[in-house]
Amino acid sequence: MNERLSVTALGPYIGALVADVDLSRPLSDAQFEQLYHALIRHQVLFFRNQPVTPAQQRALAARFGDLHIHPVYPHAPDVEEIIVLDTHDDNPPDNDNWHTDVTFIETPPAGAILAAKQLPETGGDTLWASGIAAYNALSEPFKALLAGLRAEHDFTKSFQEFKYRGSEEEHARWRQAVAKNPPLLHPVVRTHPVSGKSALFVNEGFTTRIVDLSPKESDALLNFLFAHITKPEFQVRWRWQQDDVAIWDNRVTQHYANADYLPARRIMHRATILGDKPFYQPGRA
Ligand code: SIN
Repeated sequence: MNERLSVTALGPYIGALVADVDLSRPLSDAQFEQLYHALIRHQVLFFRNQPVTPAQQRALAARFGDLHIHPVYPHAPDVEEIIVLDTHDDNPPDNDNWHTDVTFIETPPAGAILAAKQLPETGGDTLWASGIAAYNALSEPFKALLAGLRAEHDFTKSFQEFKYRGSEEEHARWRQAVAKNPPLLHPVVRTHPVSGKSALFVNEGFTTRIVDLSPKESDALLNFLFAHITKPEFQVRWRWQQDDVAIWDNRVTQHYANADYLPARRIMHRATILGDKPFYQPGRA
């Protein structure tokens, strides 16, 4: 059996297309190792024509680590680790902002796997940005300013109460999620635990303030960093086809789901792989 995966970079910093693998079947150790190293190198991997079931997607994600169960998003029938992002006119998307998934927990996800199940005729692309490339583009004095700063991440910045008032059950689930996920701190720059590379780790979706600065300084710095990460140089944009799959390293990337397709419907399935506590260790790579 040919175990060699084909990996083609889509740009110098982020993104690669992977072929010669069937994600619906258990991967051999050799295949998984290639996938894992390609992920660390390219930060987001894309695969065409992978019609995975929720159970197969869960099994693939579980090769990378324990899975997160989202506190408010609905899940696939019988597979609670697979989030169903089913967006349309009556349920507009909430991920059309630059965000890193689930940074409101102590150990934010190491990665995620997204599968395209139903797509609009046109639109609905997703963009990913490399926090490593964005960090590397900063000047040395600016990097020195960021070193050691801590930022607050808050569940309610993206999951606002008014969106969860549809039923008493939905509102109770939201209240429970808020109680379980109080705001917490992560370093503004984090070190990748495997590659040792530094990456910007603030995102517009969940980061509210830099606690080591005055409110005005924090606002100015965060606004700069949120704008900086959106430079096209640091990004890859994926035009989905039915049954495409994307796998990303959530420790050093952020993404934006383009909400240009309403009133059409778009359904995506996401598995979210738990990670470790972010840390900053200067000079590792
Ligand atoms: C996500 O925000 O995790 C999913 C992105 C998408 O739906 O394209």
